[in-house]
Amino acid sequence: MAMADSGALVGHGRLAVDSGTGRAHGKAILLGEHAVVYGAPALAVPIPFLTATARATRVPCPDDGGEGISFTIAGPGPAASAPLPGDGTRQMLAEFREATGFSDDLCVDVVVDCAVPQGRGLGSSAACARAAVLALADLCGFGLDAATVFRLVQASENVAHGRASGIDAVATGSDSPVLFRSGVVQELSTNFEGRFVIADSGVGGSTKEAVELVRRRFEHDAQAKEEFVSRASGLTGGAVRDLEQGDLAGLGARLTENHVLLQELGLSTDRIDRLVAAALMAGSPGAKISGGGLGGCVIALAGGPGAAEELGRTLREAGATRTWIVPMRRLASHVD
Ligand code: PMV
Repeated sequence: MAMADSGALVGHGRLAVDSGTGRAHGKAILLGEHAVVYGAPALAVPIPFLTATARATRVPCPDDGGEGISFTIAGPGPAASAPLPGDGTRQMLAEFREATGFSDDLCVDVVVDCAVPQGRGLGSSAACARAAVLALADLCGFGLDAATVFRLVQASENVAHGRASGIDAVATGSDSPVLFRSGVVQELSTNFEGRFVIADSGVGGSTKEAVELVRRRFEHDAQAKEEFVSRASGLTGGAVRDLEQGDLAGLGARLTENHVLLQELGLSTDRIDRLVAAALMAGSPGAKISGGGLGGCVIALAGGPGAAEELGRTLREAGATRTWIVPMRRLASHVD
């Protein structure tokens, strides 16, 4: 499915009800982050139990007119309960108005309850934006198609990341693992039995800074860029085959190799490297940093549920502040 193709709007656009709701979830990138910004494929899995839910409620307009739409974000993390209308949200709202004809003189409160921790490479900005877009559309009685939702979430993500590939905008709304390349999405139906343990290093990273660091690194070194994109593309392509063949060892080796590529770009941290080493020492087939980097989370591969529980324990003993277990398929999930 190509996300840029459509833009159709189904619905009447009048406020049909007094409130609307929207929902999205977190995601973890298995392979290909950063390279995906430069056209390489990347693989991501949804984290269905880390949710962002939004409610858009029509409210009386303030006497001074105000902003029309106000945003509040609630949930864990430093920005809990802080008002949200950052530049990304403003851009998203401007495009929402343009796409839907949403009237300027309607006043709406949007409250996003976000369980996706911020700054951990788990897609919190995209999940918040997606939930908000869907809540506003629900309030107005619009049925936005997938391409329009993608475009609106991307409007916010491009500001949040500086330059966003679109993988977060897609994966935070997908029920399946996705292979994403240059706006084209393939949902993978896989029976791969492995599980991924996600371990929070306890230190947040800024995706925007990380994307900018990589951009500066490549600005004057086209060969380094080409090599990184080509090696990451090869790893992601190989990983898709590993998943098809159920090759746990092969997939693990590619994860660790991808970690080294990201480490060489300066995107890892001592804490993250220690967690990766602890996972490998404990017998994980492979582990890496996941997402933007400069902090955030490690993703480590495990076999069955017992091995994943054990690996989670090991990672917490090695300093992870919390761990989650994510299956490759959308199955039962576990939170510590
Ligand atoms: O939001 P994060 O930290 O998971 O980063 C997304 C992945 C990047 O490749 C670093 C950026 C992008 O837009 O693809």
